[in-house]
Amino acid sequence: MESRAVLFDRTGGPEVLRLEKVTLAEPGPGEVLVRIDAIGLNRGEALFRSGGYWYEATLPGSRLGGEAAGEVVAVGPGVAEVAPGDAVSVLAVGTTMSGSGVYGDHAVVPASTLLPRPADMDALTGAAVWLSYLTAYGALVEVGKVAPGDHVVVTAASSSVGVAAIQIVAALGGVPVAVTRSADKEAQLRAAGAAHVLVADGGPDVAAKVREVTGDAGARIVLDSVAGPGLADLATLVARGGTLIVYGWLDPRPAPLPRNWPLNIWGYALYALVEDPEALRRGQAFVHAGLRDGTLAPLIDRTFDLEEIVEAHRHMEANGQVGKIVVTVRH
Ligand SMILES: NC(=O)c1ccc[n+]([C@@H]2O[C@H](COP(=O)([O-])OP(=O)(O)OC[C@H]3O[C@@H](n4cnc5c(N)ncnc54)[C@H](OP(=O)(O)O)[C@@H]3O)[C@@H](O)[C@H]2O)c1
Repeated sequence: MESRAVLFDRTGGPEVLRLEKVTLAEPGPGEVLVRIDAIGLNRGEALFRSGGYWYEATLPGSRLGGEAAGEVVAVGPGVAEVAPGDAVSVLAVGTTMSGSGVYGDHAVVPASTLLPRPADMDALTGAAVWLSYLTAYGALVEVGKVAPGDHVVVTAASSSVGVAAIQIVAALGGVPVAVTRSADKEAQLRAAGAAHVLVADGGPDVAAKVREVTGDAGARIVLDSVAGPGLADLATLVARGGTLIVYGWLDPRPAPLPRNWPLNIWGYALYALVEDPEALRRGQAFVHAGLRDGTLAPLIDRTFDLEEIVEAHRHMEANGQVGKIVVTVRH
């Protein structure tokens, strides 16, 4: 079928993205054709586009995007779990972006990347919730075992994962300590549930300010997506028996190995949760329950039209956001 998709032929800045007419093949075995109504943007896609992600794009003509919401249009041979007309979210965390990226009005995706979208979940929420909240859930609950009263330091707190993490820690009775480089994000981070908002840039700066909050006891969990040279300072904030969970490299400079041993350091990837059916089921149940009782609610920073995809990526990389950037698709 004729469709429109965002493609790029070389790695680079947002300007390498172009919206083009493409011909989509019929879904093959295990695949599903999805009409895309809304797309959740993630920093990993900016890294993939610029060549700094954990796997490389197949060029030229790579697609982009791993998170969306829409409706099943057709299913390929052997697909029994969904049927045409089903409302779904797409959560693709494997190496599928170049071939089945969701930046477009339709995409053919593996059936295994689909999550059911309940009738009361609109496309905006369905595109904004899963990647951030399951990442934060897996890191904080499954790995960190956050408990009531725990201080949890969240760096890059205004990121979509950061806001999800703040809400999850608060919902479980913990004490979210949010770190941002931007003083003008303080009010929104407090409104999201942060008990403390620390405006700081870099490890030593962050460490000094966190100690004013936690004292010498430190934090049970430090959830960090910045890494870089400040990682060793962040590690000193972890209480004995606590965990430093690193899940990103927003600062791509080398990160020294922290030396305040004993220390638990966990390199977290959402993939580990998504490929474990029981853990994924627990994560979905946790997030659905939080959405129902209102303790979890994706914060939509800004929406763009699909035609504005270059501006949307520029906005993401300008670091002014608090929460999730969503692209909507008109049909
Ligand atoms: N491991 C996994 O499975 C997994 C899953 C999802 C996301 N991630 C990673 O998590 C991170 C956040 O992703 P996202 O999509 O939620 O991000 P995002 O929404 O684009 O947010 C990024 C925010 O981080 C802050 N930031 C950016 N560069 C920074 C730097 N060099 N130092 C300190 N802060 C910086 C900025 O806020 P301020 O400037 O105001 O501080 C910015 O608003 C990314 O590294 C992404 O790759 C990993």
